[in-house]
Amino acid sequence: MSDMNALLDPARFADLTTRAARDPETFWSDEARRLEWIAPPSHARNGRGWFSDGLLNASANCLDRHLATRGDKVALIFQGEDEDTVLRLTYRDLHAQVCRMANVLRDHGVGKGDRVAIHLPSVPEGVIAMLACARIGAMHVVLFGGFSAEALADRLADSGARLVITADMGRRGAKQIPLKATMDRAIALRGESVETVLVVAVTGEDAPMTPGRDHALTPLLEVASAACTLEPMSADDNLFLLYTSGSTGKPKGMVHATGGYLLWAAYTHALAFDHREDDVFWCTADIGWITGHSYLTYGPLANGGTILIFEGMPSHPHPGRWWDVAQKHRVTTLYTSPTAIRALMREGDDVPARHDLSALRVLGTVGEPISAEAWTWFSTVIGKGRCPVVDTWWQTETGGIMIAPIPGSGTAKPGAAMRPLPGVQPILLDERAQPITGAGEGVLCITNAWPGQARTIWRDDALFCTTYLDPYPGYYFTGDGARRDEDGDLWITGRVDDVINVSGHRIGSAEIEDALAAEHVFAESAAIGIPHDLKGQGIVVYVVPRETAAADDAERAEALAKQAIAAVGKRVGRYAAPEQVFVVPDLPKTRSGKIVRRLLRKIACNETEGLGDLSTLADPELVPALIAKILG
Ligand code: WTA
Repeated sequence: MSDMNALLDPARFADLTTRAARDPETFWSDEARRLEWIAPPSHARNGRGWFSDGLLNASANCLDRHLATRGDKVALIFQGEDEDTVLRLTYRDLHAQVCRMANVLRDHGVGKGDRVAIHLPSVPEGVIAMLACARIGAMHVVLFGGFSAEALADRLADSGARLVITADMGRRGAKQIPLKATMDRAIALRGESVETVLVVAVTGEDAPMTPGRDHALTPLLEVASAACTLEPMSADDNLFLLYTSGSTGKPKGMVHATGGYLLWAAYTHALAFDHREDDVFWCTADIGWITGHSYLTYGPLANGGTILIFEGMPSHPHPGRWWDVAQKHRVTTLYTSPTAIRALMREGDDVPARHDLSALRVLGTVGEPISAEAWTWFSTVIGKGRCPVVDTWWQTETGGIMIAPIPGSGTAKPGAAMRPLPGVQPILLDERAQPITGAGEGVLCITNAWPGQARTIWRDDALFCTTYLDPYPGYYFTGDGARRDEDGDLWITGRVDDVINVSGHRIGSAEIEDALAAEHVFAESAAIGIPHDLKGQGIVVYVVPRETAAADDAERAEALAKQAIAAVGKRVGRYAAPEQVFVVPDLPKTRSGKIVRRLLRKIACNETEGLGDLSTLADPELVPALIAKILG
């Protein structure tokens, strides 16, 4: 295994790439030995399935298999918001806690195939609950703590979750987030399937409890047994579903299966971060997103690593809090987002300079394009020029990292020069769906299947096909655009669909527009993303009031703009709050009635030169009127 991980020269990287491309069946059958199987698979790929006749359990792979050799090794370090709250769980401790949690779930009637919603802040119980579900074959559905009650309700209803694990409160800096109260509202709205709610005491605040349905978790764990038999799972049995945003307003429950996903998480974690036995791996993502699944939980634990979970925020209660954490726990690998890097950069170089970051070995980023400036800062100020910066491109749908300059594979370029991992074959297609060979820019597709690929969309396989497989027949369509430079390196240019990326969080334009449509005062709306210094993209919304005259009345327009922001907060969540709302009499449309978002983007960015031919619009006069109104 250690041999498989030591990938520190370009020749070996090239050799792996060639072998994976030439004979994927053999390559992936060999790689599957990274996992511990109850019954090893006799083959690799089988249509959309992988390792189909193999039997395994993901929690056993992350825990039980390490007990003999790493029982006393620290598996999980928890740094609380309070400096003094530190928890170190060995593999033996974590195993026991997961078993207790799994027994509590079983006692409440949860079994194989049932869905369990996990709605928690960054505390160890999140990882413990995920692994407990995996142990008994239940699918976890982690719900981001920033979702509104309405957004939670949609996901509870779609997943049909029987049991919910939430917390009395979450902490966000000095603020408290009433998770349990929000979940209660969600269940009241559309949580018919929910039979049981287990409540983690994070702050110890009194949370409202519904007798018969709600239980404090701690007393149940205290009496639960620390031994729990595991459910043998077929490699193709579902491990979890996780909601993500696309072009439709409805959130998509991406389904990942046990064997292929777990292998992808382990394989990519080992390669992309050059994982070593003594690493302390800090992935700053929330478990509510795929990064928190693959690199806070499954990848590093399957590889027997030590993970760090930090409850707090980068700069609370003082700038440099993150660097305190990195120093104190001797973090070797820091995996974070360009948004966080931009915010930390603003605090000045003297803040990290006051810390001992000498344990750092590898730095990673994910979620959005990183600028050359942010990349260089991360590399020089944090990495002191000695740590590789791994800009990793991937998606909820891909299960794990797909394209990244992995350490040892060659030189990385500031601002994201990237090569596919061995076993991934990206392709760029032009407007006529023809492959672009050599340098050029097009839509990014993947030509081959890989083990980590999502299997379907929960209860909507047709949408899976129309979204990913049908647009470019024979290829997986990513929704992103990319450019290949003269050296053959890929640069991700951003989404080519109506997905907006705010601080690395995917938000569909349609989600925002549906939220606004539910307020009956708006006849129509369009949400677009525009560049934002800190967040990468910010959301701008154009709304057309039913009473068109309101657009010309400053006071009414202001009230409508406030109502629009409140509506998005209520139906999606505060993380999706628009930066700006323009109340306008109409939206520019083609003669066939399609909103021309390109023009809305240009106007919002104050780029009114070269708007192109407006004569094809249904109302060519509207654009100058909008410009006059918005830009004055
Ligand atoms: C974007 C997050 C540029 C991209 C793991 C993708 C990136 C979407 C990068 C997936 C990167 C992710 N450079 N863009 N390194 N990584 N993206 O599903 O648009 O939350 O399609 O998965 O984020 O977001 P998701």
